[in-house]
Parts: sequence; structure tokens; C-alpha cells
Amino acid sequence: MRNETSQAGFTVKLVRSDVEVFVPEYGSILQVLLSLGFAIPYSCRGGSCGACEVGVLRGTPDHRDLVLSDDEKASNQSMMVCCSGAISPVLELDL
Ligand code: FES
Repeated sequence: MRNETSQAGFTVKLVRSDVEVFVPEYGSILQVLLSLGFAIPYSCRGGSCGACEVGVLRGTPDHRDLVLSDDEKASNQSMMVCCSGAISPVLELDL
């Protein structure tokens, strides 16, 4: 599945882990985190199961999942990292 983002890549800061990574255009936050060895739960990889939900501490996700309600998406308190990207240049996640 192609994972579109709203810009040519973005930075993800994993606040609790003190790690900062760049997610390239069309990249997947989940894939980047898995490649770094983070044990992120996931199942569908398509935004429909909710397994990969991660808390958002700062920044604006580009929500592309089918799990969160419109109100939950508007609150930007969490996101599905398998399919969602970023509108802001930096996302700070609760990981
Ligand atoms: S893995 Fe299913 S919503 Fe992300």
C-alpha cells in the first residue's frame, strides 16, 4: 500500500526514547520504527485495525486511517503510524 504524506518527508521525534528519525516522502512511520528495532504492534498496515495507535505529543498528523473518529482526528492526541503521515514538519510521539 502506498503511504502518501502531505510533504516531502518529515521528522519524527520519539520523546521517551530520545530518538529522532526522518520519514521520507511516501515512507511509513511504522516501517521506519520497525527497521530501527522498535516493537510497535501492528496488524493490518492499512489503517483499519487500530493496533498501531501511538500517542502524539506535538505536531499535526495527516490522519489517513479508518479507526479514529473525526473528533479524535481533530484532537491530534493519537495516530495510526502504519498509514498516517504528517502535516507539520515535525511530529513528537509518545514512544
Ligand atoms: S496496523 Fe492496523 S491500523 Fe495500523
